[in-house]
Amino acid sequence: MRGPLVAGDVGPVRAVPETIVRPPYAWREDVPARASRPVRRKPEEVEAIRRSCEAASEVLAVIAPNIAAGVTTAELDRVGHEAIVRLGGYPSPLGYRGFPTSICTAINEVICHGIPDSTELEDGDIISVDVTVYRDGHHGDLCQTFLVGDVAPSTRALVATTRRALLAALAAIRPGIQVMEIGAAIESEVAGRYAIVREFVGHEIGPEFHGALIIPHFRDPSARTRIEQGMVFTVEPMIAIGKGRVRVWEDGWTAVTADGSPCAQFEHTVLVTATGCEALTSHVATT
Ligand code: MF3
Ligand code: CO
Ligand code: CO
Repeated sequence: MRGPLVAGDVGPVRAVPETIVRPPYAWREDVPARASRPVRRKPEEVEAIRRSCEAASEVLAVIAPNIAAGVTTAELDRVGHEAIVRLGGYPSPLGYRGFPTSICTAINEVICHGIPDSTELEDGDIISVDVTVYRDGHHGDLCQTFLVGDVAPSTRALVATTRRALLAALAAIRPGIQVMEIGAAIESEVAGRYAIVREFVGHEIGPEFHGALIIPHFRDPSARTRIEQGMVFTVEPMIAIGKGRVRVWEDGWTAVTADGSPCAQFEHTVLVTATGCEALTSHVATT
């Protein structure tokens, strides 16, 4: 097993063809303010978000077969970047509040917002790959944790539980529930065996990367907003073996568990339907 992860070298900023439309925040300091209240998306908007989600899912599927010991996270970023641009999309993280790369990669104790760099994957690692694509004026966002070779059974169990926790959350979503019930479903699935990271939340998504509605991944009694048909948001639980307290590296982005314990994450973008919800993103099948 590798020791604590350290930052590697981040490569130069990757170019995006001029013909690809950028989100308004790209490489600007003034990120537009979040909308003030959650919205129900119009059918045309839902279809645009759906296409961005399909593109992001396809990009994750292109990246996945490259995940192996000896491969750098920068290489996964290159593969992801090229796939996004090929699909006519802009990689939403690139230039978002200065974020320097096109995808996020999170090895072992990294919770989220890891910057792809010269670090090579090693046998026994887990890695979360988070892809967000901006196309036709809308974002689509998903994340999945992958196993690299022979992973410790305790860590495999964490990854399996995190996947089930996301699916339990989706099963709880329908019009009329309060947002806190989504986190409650995650808590029931985790059943006290692991820590749920509280600092990072799911978010409304559409023309904005992060919209007004936020989705805590634990039962937060203050999350009383009622879910309505037509809302589109992400659910993206981060679950750790240890205490789940967060520390951020000096790069200002990389969030790690303070105790160094492994953390897994699965994310879908979901549309609230008349009777439940539909995942607009799709994960890669793994064995
Ligand atoms: N995709 C991440 C999310 O799920 C956000 C990444 S923002 C970045 O919300 F700047 F770190 F890329
Ligand atoms: Co997200
Ligand atoms: Co994401």
